[in-house]
Amino acid sequence: MLSVRGGLSYTVSVTIPYRPALAGLEPYGAPQLDVPVTLNVNENPYPPSAEMIADIAAAVADAAASLNRYPDRDFLALRADLADYLAAESGVRLSPEQVWAANGSNEVMLHILLAFAGPGRTVISFTPTYSMYVEYARDTFSEWQTLPRRDDFSLDLEKLPEELARIRPAVILLASPNNPTGTALTGDELSAVLDAAKGNGPADAPGSDCLVVVDEAYGEFRRDGVPSALELLADHDNLIVSRTMSKAFGAAGLRLGYLGAAKEIVDQLQIVRLPYHLSAVTQAAARAALRHSASQLSQIAALREGRDAIVRRLHSLGLDTAPTDANFVMFGTFPDRSEIFTRVLDRGVLIREVGPAGWLRVSVGTPEENEAFFDALEEAMK
Ligand SMILES: Cc1ncc(COP(=O)(O)O)c(C=O)c1O
Repeated sequence: MLSVRGGLSYTVSVTIPYRPALAGLEPYGAPQLDVPVTLNVNENPYPPSAEMIADIAAAVADAAASLNRYPDRDFLALRADLADYLAAESGVRLSPEQVWAANGSNEVMLHILLAFAGPGRTVISFTPTYSMYVEYARDTFSEWQTLPRRDDFSLDLEKLPEELARIRPAVILLASPNNPTGTALTGDELSAVLDAAKGNGPADAPGSDCLVVVDEAYGEFRRDGVPSALELLADHDNLIVSRTMSKAFGAAGLRLGYLGAAKEIVDQLQIVRLPYHLSAVTQAAARAALRHSASQLSQIAALREGRDAIVRRLHSLGLDTAPTDANFVMFGTFPDRSEIFTRVLDRGVLIREVGPAGWLRVSVGTPEENEAFFDALEEAMK
């Protein structure tokens, strides 16, 4: 056995044929610690209502009666429910054939890169951004390149047309609101990216456009007046908008992510999905949960207010925050952020050490959890 990380318990056997690119790596994931207040993975802090729990339980019991059969591979009923949800949330009506779903938007993204990136093709994003993107690229054997954000974390778009003509990426991944910064794309920025993507697709598909994937995992938290990229779908065949039930909808444990795109794109995604990837239990539970959209989404206004109150209070402590349209706030900067993170954790509050040097991130919790966070932070900063 060969130890590749001095001091850590990991060992790499010389007899196992590791993929060189993966040897010695650790799996991605935020710490899952048993502490009183967890504000580290941007969940909705409110559990499902008693009515929603009862509905999900009944739907799952019904699905259990035919678990000897494989689930519906095309799950058009769930896709129709998700299309209805999107129409109610954003005013954009898609057909069920324009919607695709998988086990979390993580898997949705993997499907996109499996279908449209891969060896010899390049995926780009603007950093800092969601740290899984580079892993999707690695796992699909795609090249990965990043372009910078400005100091306020908005996109630096001036040179984008030249950059895209040089890189010829197959896929541009853009989180809006972005994680970990919270920055949302404006309508102008989105249009500029879509314009620059025209004709700059990968060299092995001459004349093609780059696919622009807007990851709206936190889309429901955007401020009034900030558009959803869904509004541009009708005019752009190269646009994909990804969403999830993990964040605003308050169902992270369900593992249900989805996207809206042209039917031709969705047809292509079906080529790379594993057969029966969405279990009958997941489909039934998701459909039952979606019947409670109105009550689930009624928490959003309070969470947005909680976010804005957190920003104000961080400023009153003399701290800086990144502009945020999400349910989290990136704040700082600290000469030693690990020390602050640990001191806050010692007081029972788990936040996230993520983003550029010196910054920390906190998710919006219940008013009581937010209060506990500030008690811990103020102590930690003494
Ligand atoms: C920007 C962004 N996209 C996607 C995800 C993945 O969400 P899920 O796989 O739970 O749908 C996250 C989770 O934190 C995220 O921050």
